[in-house]
Amino acid sequence: VSPTFSSKSNQSFIDRMRNENRQVLIMYGSQTGTAEEMSGRLAKDLTRYSKKAVVVDPEDIEVEDLNRLTEIQDALLVLCIATYGEGDPTDNSVSLVEYLNAGECDLSGVRFAVFGLGNKTYEHFNAIGKQMDAQLEKLGGKRIFALGLGDDDANLEEDFMRWREAFLPKIAAEFNWELNTEAETMRQYQLEEVEAGKALFKGEFGRLGAYERPRPPFDIKNPFLATVLVNDELHTEKSDRSCRHIEFSVEGSRIRYEAGDHLAVFPTNDSNLVEKIIELLDFDADKAFRLVNVDEDASKRHPFPCPTTFRTALEHYVDICAPVKSHVLKAISEYCSDEAEKQYLSSLATANEEGLAEYARYIQKERRSIVDVLKEHKSCKPPIEYLLELLPRLQARYYSIASSPRLGEEKIAICAVVTKYSIGDRNIRGVCTNYLTKKLATSKSPVFVRKSTMRLPHRTTTQVIMIGPGTGFAPFRGFLQDRQFHKNAGKEIGKMHLFYGCRHPEHDYIYQEELAEFERDGVLSHLDCAFSRAQNEKIYVQNKVWEARVRVWQAIQDGAHVYICGDARNMARDVQATLQKIFRELGGKTEQEAQTYFKDMEKSKRYQADVWS
Ligand code: FAD
Ligand code: 2AM
Repeated sequence: VSPTFSSKSNQSFIDRMRNENRQVLIMYGSQTGTAEEMSGRLAKDLTRYSKKAVVVDPEDIEVEDLNRLTEIQDALLVLCIATYGEGDPTDNSVSLVEYLNAGECDLSGVRFAVFGLGNKTYEHFNAIGKQMDAQLEKLGGKRIFALGLGDDDANLEEDFMRWREAFLPKIAAEFNWELNTEAETMRQYQLEEVEAGKALFKGEFGRLGAYERPRPPFDIKNPFLATVLVNDELHTEKSDRSCRHIEFSVEGSRIRYEAGDHLAVFPTNDSNLVEKIIELLDFDADKAFRLVNVDEDASKRHPFPCPTTFRTALEHYVDICAPVKSHVLKAISEYCSDEAEKQYLSSLATANEEGLAEYARYIQKERRSIVDVLKEHKSCKPPIEYLLELLPRLQARYYSIASSPRLGEEKIAICAVVTKYSIGDRNIRGVCTNYLTKKLATSKSPVFVRKSTMRLPHRTTTQVIMIGPGTGFAPFRGFLQDRQFHKNAGKEIGKMHLFYGCRHPEHDYIYQEELAEFERDGVLSHLDCAFSRAQNEKIYVQNKVWEARVRVWQAIQDGAHVYICGDARNMARDVQATLQKIFRELGGKTEQEAQTYFKDMEKSKRYQADVWS
C-alpha cells in the first residue's frame, strides 16, 4: 500500500470531541479553499485561550452525527460556509446543508456562530450562510455571535478580520476562557528532516506515485495527469490579450463528462517566483523534509503532501501569488531584523481602522503577494518551513468545457483568456492561465471533471438561446457540437440562437470560422454578435438580445431554454434585466409577473446560468 497524504480517522468527530476534551467544532463549506483556510485560522486562534477545536470537512463525516453534539458539554459550533454558483452550497457541504435543512437535527442549547463567504456580484449573495444561520437557530441552537457576511467582490479578508476580531473576545467571555499570550506565535507543524533515498512527493496530491500508477476515480483529491494535445492562440495579433484553446487527452482514465461540465486544472507556480523566494530566504531548496502536526490528535497530519522538497512544495502545494493574508503578515513580521519593517508588517495585520485601510491599499488593492512583500522588506527572513505552514494551499482553477463527448470522450477542450496586468511597475500574471500558456503539446497537467447542472434540454428538438460573451462561449461550443452530432445521425434538432460578444471582430472574435460552419451546416440558426469596442458606443450581448426581442420572445413561448455563461462582472444581471423587459413589453406582463415568469423559468431549468467573476 502506498503512503497517502491524509488518512481518515474511523472515529466519529463527536467521540473525538469527547475523548480529547474539545468543545469547539468548526465545519467548513469550501470550494476554493478559502473557507477551509479560515477555519484553520480560527482553530489556531483558539489556542490563544488554550482551547483546541476539531476542524471538520463535512464530506469526511457522517453528518447525522451532528445530532449528538448536544452530548458535548458547552459545545460551540462554528460554520465557515461559502455560497457557490447560483446560491448553492459548495460540493463538500451539500450533504451537511441538506441534513440541517431537513430539520431532523436537534441542536438544543448548542451555541453557534456562522461566517458566510460570498460575492456581491452574484444574485444570491451569501445565500447559504444566511440560510444556515437561520436554520441552526430553528434547530434549537443559540446564536452567540452575529452572522458574518464576507464579500469576495470587495475585501473578504478584511470582512473576516473584522468578524474574527469581535468574535474571539465574545466567545471567550461567554465561556470564561482566559487568554494565554504565549500561545500567540505557536507553530502548528514541526519540521522533520527526511533521510536520503526516501520516496518523495513530486506534485501528486493523494498518493505517492499517483501519476505513474493512476487509479480511478479521479477527483479533486486524486486528479488525472492529462496530456496536452493542442494549445492554440485564439486572438489575432491585433489583440493586446491572449486566449488559449487547449485540448487535453484523458485517454485511459474512464473520465466521463457532458457538455456544460467544468474541467479543473491544477497549476504549478512560475519557477521564476519560486527561485526568487529561494534567493530571498536563502535555503537549500532541494532538501527533503516533512512537516508534522504538533497536535497528535489533529485530523490533518501534514499541511500538504509530505515528505517532499522545499522546491516542490513551493512549486506545487502553496499559493505564492495571491494577496498575502493578514495572519501571515503578522507571523512573518516577527522575523524582521529591521524594527520599522517589523512595525509596518505587523500594523497591516492589526484590525483597527488604520491597519485595515493600509492592508486594503498595500495588499488587496495593489495585490501584493508574499514574493512582493519579501522583496520590499529585505530584513524579513522567516524560516521557510514556517512560511510553508502559513501560506494557503494552491488551488485548482475551473474552466467550462468547450467540447462535446460525442466527438470523442477522451478529448476535453477548454478556452482560457490569459490573466495579465500591471500595477505600478509590477507585471502580474495569473497563476493557471500563464501555466497553461506554456504547456506544449505532449506535456501533462493534473485535471478532473466537475459535474455541473447546466445541460442541453433532454429533447434534441427543443430550441435553445445561448448568451455567452468572451470565453462565456465555451460551453456553447460543446452544445453546438452535441447537436451537430445528432443532426449528422439523422435526428431532428431544434433551433439554436447564439448571442456572442467580444471587443472587436478583428481582435478577439474566438472560434469565428467554426461558428460560420455551424451556421452553414444548419446547426446554428441565428448568430448575433455584439462588438463592444468596434464603434464609439458600447454594444453588448443584452443590446443584441433586445434587438432580436420578437424572435427571442417567440422562442421562449415555444419552450426555448435560455443559457447565460461568461466572466463579465455584471453581464448576467444586465441580460436578466433585458429578458424581463421583454417579458413585460412583448408578453404584456407587469413587473411582478415578469419576475415570477423568470423565476419559474429558473426553477424548471429553462433558464440556466454559469457565470464567474
Ligand atoms: P489568478 O492567479 O487566480 O488571478 C486571478 C485574480 O487576479 C482575479 O480573481 C482577480 O482578483 C485578479 N485580477 C485579475 N485581473 C486583474 C486586474 N486587471 N487588476 C487587479 N486584479 C486583477 N476562465 C476562462 O478563461 N475560461 C473559462 O471557461 C472559465 N470558466 C470558469 C468556470 C467557473 C465555474 C469558474 C469559477 C471560473 C471560470 N473561469 C474561466 C475563470 C478561471 O477559473 C480562472 O479564475 C482564471 O483563468 C484566472 O486564473 P489564473 O490562475 O490565471 O489567475
Ligand atoms: P468591454 O470589455 O468592451 O466592456 C467579453 O468580455 C465581452 O463582454 C467584451 O466585449 C466586454 O466588453 C463585454 N462586457 C463587459 N461588461 C459587460 C456587461 N455588463 N454586459 C455584457 N457584456 C459585457
